[in-house]
Amino acid sequence: MSGESAAARELLAGAVRVVVFTGAGVSAESGVPTFRGPGGLWKTFRPEQLATPEAFARDPRLVWEWYGWRRGLLAACRPNLAHVAIARWMLRRGGVALVTQNVDDLHERGALEAATGLAREGRLRVAAGPAGAPASEEARAAAPDASPLHDDELPVEKIAAAAARVAPIRLHGSIFHVRCTNCRARSEHRAPLDASSEATLPRCGACGGLLRPDVVWFGEALPEGALEAAFGAAARADVCLVVGTAGAVQPAAALVHETAGGGGRVIVVDPGETAYDAMADVRLWGAAGEVVPGLLRDV
Ligand code: APR
Repeated sequence: MSGESAAARELLAGAVRVVVFTGAGVSAESGVPTFRGPGGLWKTFRPEQLATPEAFARDPRLVWEWYGWRRGLLAACRPNLAHVAIARWMLRRGGVALVTQNVDDLHERGALEAATGLAREGRLRVAAGPAGAPASEEARAAAPDASPLHDDELPVEKIAAAAARVAPIRLHGSIFHVRCTNCRARSEHRAPLDASSEATLPRCGACGGLLRPDVVWFGEALPEGALEAAFGAAARADVCLVVGTAGAVQPAAALVHETAGGGGRVIVVDPGETAYDAMADVRLWGAAGEVVPGLLRDV
């Protein structure tokens, strides 16, 4: 194990509260294009044409066509080892908040895989207390591991509840949710999209208004509750683990400075350069799927 990895594991093992902050890079090995890297979305498409409220007002059909394409791409992707390792770690130790800029659902699907794996091993604990709160020694000791389970014995509800507990705080929304441009009702939306004409675009079931993807576009404010929860968790954290973000987009990118400003330490995992390299206490140069599982194993 490299000195850097050992140093990072020591920081994580000694931390009571941790915030994990992810970007497009954590999903790259699942086949999801990043934004600014080689083959990145903004290398091929123009954000001002597809990811602004003005673009949607101008041509909702074009914008929906693009989000339909991205959804199709995502449907064919699976969570990778980094998504699963992060969720497994959160389920085992408590005290970790996950904040993502991504609009894909791979953290949630990774959490279901992690919870199912732990249940199979008889090691799925459902810790008491609010998500992100440190699991007390008593709580850890009180929930000893059980015996391994066969697939037909898996506690589906317990697995779903555990996965929900480690769901990410979403700073930029979700590509599988929609919002009504008229009554602002929000809902999950996974139905196939027909963007062949404006008449076929998705409509609000309550008021008939045009639905839009419930993602944060350039020039738009972040969801208030998510922003407060994320920055609050970062300010309280002893360690911020940054995985797969260039740190180029504000205000999300400022989150890491909340931890450092409060005396916390910063670990960065990324194969390329990021805006956090100079402030990182530990810098791990590598792909998330290769670095994160070993970094978090038994920490
Ligand atoms: N593992 C880890 N990191 C990776 C990997 C990988 N396998 N592959 C690429 N990366 C890194 C890149 O080196 C880069 O630092 O992921 C980062 C991706 O950066 P961006 O493409 O800028 O994406 P992100 O930081 O998530 O963008 C922030 O910008 O366009 C908006 O709203 C969009 O949420 C997005 C925000």
